[in-house]
Amino acid sequence: MKTILRIDSSLRIKGSYSRTMGDYFVELWKIKHSNGKIIERDINLQMIPHLTQDTVNGFFDSAVSSEILALSDQLIEELYSNDELLITCPMYNYGIPSSLKAYFDLIVRTEKTFTNDSNGIRGLLTDKKAYIISAMGMTQPAAEEKNLIEIQITRILNQLGIVDINYFPVDGTINPEQAIMKLEQQRKRIYQNFTHAALNSQIHNPGYL
Ligand SMILES: Cc1cc2nc3c(=O)[nH]c(=O)nc-3n(C[C@H](O)[C@H](O)[C@H](O)COP(=O)(O)O)c2cc1C
Repeated sequence: MKTILRIDSSLRIKGSYSRTMGDYFVELWKIKHSNGKIIERDINLQMIPHLTQDTVNGFFDSAVSSEILALSDQLIEELYSNDELLITCPMYNYGIPSSLKAYFDLIVRTEKTFTNDSNGIRGLLTDKKAYIISAMGMTQPAAEEKNLIEIQITRILNQLGIVDINYFPVDGTINPEQAIMKLEQQRKRIYQNFTHAALNSQIHNPGYL
């Protein structure tokens, strides 16, 4: 049975482009994996506390109270227990939301999700696949292969050993007409991502395929 961890981070519950695309992705994922399980983590509704010195001490010292590391342990266990990872993420002030950064600060943990020795950093979550759905108000310059959200999340996931990453960016959301066009563009790409034969006959064809 396939499992996917969906992480949403937009402040907006309604009217969020990243969440809307996440919903569409999950709709198709469910058809492809009819016995699959979706774990939802909304880090906007359930805030993750910022990293503290005590927590970082605990990362390196097993004598530190397990209570301090409880949330980090729980999030890491959740990550390990899923085959795939879907992150929906808005751009806030040229980066990912601080809530999502707080999440990453608890899961990027030495000896738990990566190791670092004389051979360098080695991620321990090597068998996972990830999808990043990003939304930003500005139009992404054509020369930029990835937006700032994708660059930052990719670096973090790579450190964890996750290198199979697919990107679905919705940019220019400040302009509603452009936003609708970009949504449709990415909807089409998500649709194409699910190439399972059984899928095509079951889902509503949005008209452009
Ligand atoms: C606090 C805040 C900061 C933002 N900063 C940026 C930014 O730096 N660059 C940008 O392109 N858009 C920025 N935006 C616009 C959002 O990225 C845009 O509205 C996006 O669609 C939000 O994602 P959502 O639709 O999933 O909520 C910002 C929006 C907010 C609320």
